[in-house]
Amino acid sequence: MDTPQRETRAAEPLTMYEIVFPGDLNPNGVMFGGKLVALMDICTALCVSRWSRRPCVTASIDAIAFNSPIRHGQMVELTARVVYVGNTSCVAFCSVHAQDITTGDRFYCCEGYFTIVGLDSNSKPTVLPMIPLDDETDRREWEHAKLIKEHMLARLELRKQG
Ligand SMILES: CC(C)(COP(=O)(O)OP(=O)(O)OC[C@H]1O[C@@H](n2cnc3c(N)ncnc32)[C@H](O)[C@@H]1OP(=O)(O)O)[C@@H](O)C(=O)NCCC(=O)NCCS
Repeated sequence: MDTPQRETRAAEPLTMYEIVFPGDLNPNGVMFGGKLVALMDICTALCVSRWSRRPCVTASIDAIAFNSPIRHGQMVELTARVVYVGNTSCVAFCSVHAQDITTGDRFYCCEGYFTIVGLDSNSKPTVLPMIPLDDETDRREWEHAKLIKEHMLARLELRKQG
C-alpha cells in the first residue's frame, strides 16, 4: 500500500504585540520573566497551530536567554517561527524585542526554543507537515533547533536512568 505523501507547507512567522502593565512587574520593577515566557509560549503555540492546522501542546521550553529588561509601559513585540520539524513535534524559535513608545527605541530582549506537539481529535500526538528549507540559514537553524531538542530528550533519558 502507498504511504501518503507528507505535505510540505511554508510556515509564516507570527508576530504579537503586548504592553507592560504594572501587574506584569517583578519586585525589581521590570517585567517578570515568567510573564514574558508565558507570552512566548502563546506566540509559538499560535504560530505552530496556524501552520499545522492542529491544536498543540508545549512539550519543552529550552535555551531561554534574557538579554535586556523590559519596563512598565514599553511595547513588547514577540515573533515566532517554526525552525525544525520532527514527526509529531516541531521546534519554534521565539525572539522578543521591546520598544519604548515615547522615544521609539526598539531593542532585543529575549529568545527561546519551544518544542510543540501537534494533537489529533483524541488529543494524541499526530504527524505534522514538513517545512521547506530554502537556504543555508534555514538549514543552519534546523540543525541548531534539532540539537536543542535532542539535548532535552537526552537529559530526560539520563534522569529516567537515575
Ligand atoms: C507532549 C506530550 C503530548 C507527548 O506525549 P507522549 O505520549 O510522550 O508522545 P511521544 O512520546 O510520542 O512524543 C511525541 C513527540 O514529542 C516529543 N517529546 C515528548 N516529550 C518531549 C519533551 N519533554 N521535550 C521535547 N520533545 C518531547 C517526542 O520526541 C516526539 O517527537 P517526534 O514525534 O517529533 O519524534 C505529553 O507528554 C503531554 O501531554 N505533556 C504535557 C503537555 C502540557 O501540558 N503542556 C503545557 C500546556 S500547553
